[in-house]
Amino acid sequence: MTKPALLITAPMMDGVLRALDAEFSVHRLWEQADREEFLARTGPDIRGLATNTLFGRLDEALLAQLPNLEIIANFGVGYDNVDAEAAAARRVVVTNTPHVLDEEVADLTIGLVLATLRQIPQADHYLRAGRWERGPFPLSGTLRGRRVGILGLGNIGKAVARRLEGFGVPIAYHGRSPQPDVAYPWHPTLIGLASWCDVLIIVVPGGAATRHLVDAPVLEALGREGVLINIARGSVVDEAALIAALREGVIQSAGLDVYEEEPHVPADLIAMPNLVLLPHVGSGSLHTREAMGRLVVDNLIGWFRDGAALTPVRETAHLGHKC
Ligand code: 8YV
Repeated sequence: MTKPALLITAPMMDGVLRALDAEFSVHRLWEQADREEFLARTGPDIRGLATNTLFGRLDEALLAQLPNLEIIANFGVGYDNVDAEAAAARRVVVTNTPHVLDEEVADLTIGLVLATLRQIPQADHYLRAGRWERGPFPLSGTLRGRRVGILGLGNIGKAVARRLEGFGVPIAYHGRSPQPDVAYPWHPTLIGLASWCDVLIIVVPGGAATRHLVDAPVLEALGREGVLINIARGSVVDEAALIAALREGVIQSAGLDVYEEEPHVPADLIAMPNLVLLPHVGSGSLHTREAMGRLVVDNLIGWFRDGAALTPVRETAHLGHKC
């Protein structure tokens, strides 16, 4: 039996590539000398596609060059890098990697909260620079006595909230609507949540619907003692407004894992010593990235062997079964 032709848009972990090579006739887009010529020649053969954020946005223009595409498997729970509406219009199912990274990203989020408030990386640098010999590290901020607001109480937001319960801090959230099975107070507006809390954690998906949700007025509401934590997508925050707010003391500090133009991080942020800046590592342990990779492979195999994708995204959930 001929193997289905699969296009991989950008480099992936070796284990994922090996598993896909075993099952599919694989084409690596990044290895093609002339991408347009390759797509014109091979595009109509392609039935499956694996992609990730390294590739950039998978849009209608590329979909139009793949007229027989059936499935796009995205490496990542966030799929703002894929035009899922355009895929749905072409009856192409899109899958992501939910659940397998929730706990890992929540762990990292708590680490980032504590690192930012207690200035853990700065304390490490202080010691390594030999400065402890000359005097103690300055006293830091704290999580004690703080109220934590969560923007976006999905699977990852809930995993963050569960952990925060152990820290004994009040928790509230904002999302489109209150969740009936959740005990934390819901704030109907983001401004309301930001005014209430002094640590605001962003966990909403990226994309047009959430672009620049956290803007100058929200930062103003968060206030002078406020700390912003973003482990979701850089696009959710108006980065220019954030830089201005940090510079002018509108908010106190920030812990960021994501940025508007990754991997570019504005020099203005890098120059601020009280921030903690991570290079988008929320899910980035070997354990969890392997689990995400397996889910990418299982979605593709599930589709072509059994006619069912395991984790289709909302926009294409109705297409998740072949018949
Ligand atoms: C990955 C992520 O860094 O799952 C997501 O949405 O942001 C991360 O887990 C990214 O998808 C890697 O391509």
